Amino acid sequence: MTVIDIERLHEDFGAQVNGINFAEALSQQQVDSVLEAIDEFSFLLFPKQDLDDGIQLELTRRLGEPEPNHARLGRDGVIDYFGTVGNVREDGTSVGNAHEHTKHMTGNNMWHTDSSFRKVPSFVSINYAYEVPEEGGETQYTSARSAYSRLSNETKRIIDPLLVVHDYVYSRSKVAKVKESHAKSLPPVQQKLVRTNKNNGKKNYYAGAHAREVVGWDRMRGRQLLDELTETATVSEYTYTHCWKPRDLVIWDNRCLLHRGLGYDADKYRRRMRQTRVAGVGPTADE
Ligand code: OGA
Ligand code: MN
Repeated sequence: MTVIDIERLHEDFGAQVNGINFAEALSQQQVDSVLEAIDEFSFLLFPKQDLDDGIQLELTRRLGEPEPNHARLGRDGVIDYFGTVGNVREDGTSVGNAHEHTKHMTGNNMWHTDSSFRKVPSFVSINYAYEVPEEGGETQYTSARSAYSRLSNETKRIIDPLLVVHDYVYSRSKVAKVKESHAKSLPPVQQKLVRTNKNNGKKNYYAGAHAREVVGWDRMRGRQLLDELTETATVSEYTYTHCWKPRDLVIWDNRCLLHRGLGYDADKYRRRMRQTRVAGVGPTADE
């Protein structure tokens, strides 16, 4: 039984959820409703929430196993379940467009799905907005489940059995240098190209910016397929653009959505969101 109130955000996916206050302890029934809504809507917006890191981590744990931030782990060997999205540093000061950190973050402006380069990729990301720019800084989403359903049967037949190499160093090196220890901690991995949601049987493809090549295919032909899949999914009528407001809490399903940042003027504005991720249940090859 669903105990939450849902308003659709886009024809294909996405819902605003009312009636849950994450600052209060959640019942198991509420947690189950959120998990069901993730399977059904892929993107959930909970506006006007009052969170801090403690509440966010607790919520993350209720949804599964928190995923350690790969950059903190790879660079510093530290387990930290949080990432900070934007240009505000720990000491509260912000950095501008020319800063190495800002350039590194622009890697998120390519259509991607979080942690697809990890052996066990992410189930969901959870973003809570503290500070948002007055203009720009939106995040765009699209459903690769809806995109898969639009493919011809012939294309589905071709892509269904494929494996794809995902590689963080490949994608991130396009915008910034990846530290050696970080690169070493993230060797390329293989993921299924087509994934099925076990709870509802719905299929989607799984690619995006970290997808480097199709296993067993000529590199160029593989690139062409992967680029076409991204293009098919990201035609504007199929995308939803989220304009962040402070206190927005958003949970999205990394198994079947692609997303990208739209950029903002970091010289002019501050942007600060805290992000946690819930790990998937295992390597996609075992699904
Ligand atoms: C993310 C992400 C892009 C952005 O939060 O995972 O990719 O800057 N964000 O909006
Ligand atoms: Mn991301």
